Amino acid sequence: MKKKSELLYHGKTKSLYATDEPDYLVAKFNDDITAFNQKKHAIIEGKGSFSNHFNAFIMQKLKEEGVDNHFQSKLSENQSIIKHLKMLPIECIVRNRAAGSFCKRFGIEKGQILDPATFEFCLKDDALSDPMINESILLTLNLATKGQIAAVKKISQRVNNILEPLFDDSQFILVDYKLEFGLFHGAILLGDEFTLDTCRIWDHDTKEIFDKDRFREDLEGGVMPFYHEVARRVGLR
Ligand code: TMP
Ligand code: ASP
Repeated sequence: MKKKSELLYHGKTKSLYATDEPDYLVAKFNDDITAFNQKKHAIIEGKGSFSNHFNAFIMQKLKEEGVDNHFQSKLSENQSIIKHLKMLPIECIVRNRAAGSFCKRFGIEKGQILDPATFEFCLKDDALSDPMINESILLTLNLATKGQIAAVKKISQRVNNILEPLFDDSQFILVDYKLEFGLFHGAILLGDEFTLDTCRIWDHDTKEIFDKDRFREDLEGGVMPFYHEVARRVGLR
């Protein structure tokens, strides 16, 4: 049995702890919620435990559908055992609809269907506001290899093929999402998290927002009732 030991990393919403097995970590989901590269921050009681359960649900679904990832098992309400990856410093963003920075950067109307879905890399660096980066720059700066780039693109697309219908069946639109990857004994594996903090989800008919944009935009009704409704509709609880 893996035993939790020292704190290795304290992120914006998660803390990672070592275990007595070097290949495994404990991820603790905290109640923090942040936006705009931490310019906005709050504590929402129960969000950590919600995100732990939601992430476990999605990662298990992905695993069942053949997308291996770092998730191993839930350890407690707000902690899970994960594989210890060496993370690539990049964010992979897939968009099925225009929203957020896509609308701002390209002058596209919010909600426009993006077919085929777009894929973009961002450099994971809050101080630089996570700038968009391309394959050429990733290669030149030795941030990823050609093989790794091909692998993360392929897996990101497969995740879309699995999750878009999953949310569609629950009367939601999976607008966009962000994935992060790492290396486990040299092989690319999906890591980090898939939660309502790292994607956009709208009601299919009303286009009502059910994701972290509720916090970004200070929408009336708060965040958690909407997060719980997503969980309910996808069959999580
Ligand atoms: P964006 O429209 O702000 O570029 O975000 C696209 C998607 O990626 C959206 O679902 C939010 C998610 N995202 C994160 O999870 N973390 C980040 O640091 C950024 C920039 C986006
Ligand atoms: N993930 C970033 C933050 O938490 C940016 C965002 O989601 O708006 O600050």
